Amino acid sequence: MGEMDYENRIVASGYTQDDANEQTLRPQTINDYIGQEKVKENLKIYIEAAKSRGETLDHCLLYGPPGLGKTTLAGIIANEMGVNFRVTSGPAIEKPGDLAALLTNLSDGDVLFVDEIHRLSRSVEEVLYPAMEDNALDIIIGKGPSARSIRLDLPHFTLIGATTRAGQLSAPLRDRFGVVLRLELYTPEELAQIVRRSAGIIGTAIDDEGALEIASRSRGTPRIANRLLKRVRDFAQVLGKGVVDLESAQLALTRLEIDELGLDNIDRSLLRAIIEFYQGGPVGLETIAAVIGEEAITIEDVYEPYLLQLGFLGRTPRGRVVTPAGYEHLGIKIQGQQKLF
Ligand code: ADE
Repeated sequence: MGEMDYENRIVASGYTQDDANEQTLRPQTINDYIGQEKVKENLKIYIEAAKSRGETLDHCLLYGPPGLGKTTLAGIIANEMGVNFRVTSGPAIEKPGDLAALLTNLSDGDVLFVDEIHRLSRSVEEVLYPAMEDNALDIIIGKGPSARSIRLDLPHFTLIGATTRAGQLSAPLRDRFGVVLRLELYTPEELAQIVRRSAGIIGTAIDDEGALEIASRSRGTPRIANRLLKRVRDFAQVLGKGVVDLESAQLALTRLEIDELGLDNIDRSLLRAIIEFYQGGPVGLETIAAVIGEEAITIEDVYEPYLLQLGFLGRTPRGRVVTPAGYEHLGIKIQGQQKLF
């Protein structure tokens, strides 16, 4: 993996080919789903209430950083409601007709999950509004002055939308969700529990220290934790005793150049670029994007949240700055005056 290979980094929180069997690690019921306690407690109430009224659940919006289990949670909602789970994504619905076809093929009560819902086009959103509000599909027949619209009834359904940031959603779409749930980064203890559960499913011996070591280097993200578990298992199997313990976890993570806080080469390069080329900042996001060859929105959604949470990166009106804690983590001394901290 090249220094700037953002796509194949092992701590990438986006979905990669390596996660193809992620499916088998996914919990099926809300009680098997670890963490996100506030979200779960509220959801349980909404699900029970809807079921006892014999109604569909209100449309739900799930938002939060990638890899936290939004798709998993949506599947669990469908499962707990006892209905079909239909999956699609914003970019996959290209034309209003694509959405019309999806909607008319639903069965009564189904959950329709739309990942990356902020990427729906305006014309597709227009079809979604009456579907969400009135279970209706408005079809325009003809062109020009003789055009008229007919309304078709749709089955009752629950739309579950997922997005990395609720702010990216258009206001009219956001307003049509009755339930809005924000997923948060997991604690190391929660992640350790997830890692132990996953190790059981893939049949790998693991001890508590090994699980916690992987968990504390997984950037609060189950998808990363599960991916690291598989790599540590490889090292344990070939170079160790076959047990995921502290020693094999540390060996594997050192080899993968993931430091004790879960930062990889790319995170460190990002911080270092700001320090070396811009004296620690402030420097604009677009400039950073150009320097490291990545899209600004990707940096914002995927790389920054964890660096911000650690307090290594700061946001100011004039751009990003590396904080003293960030310098310290890299072992670089602050040169000159740092005006902002
Ligand atoms: N795998 C991914 N996310 C999970 C979660 N929250 N609980 C259990 N297993 C998971």
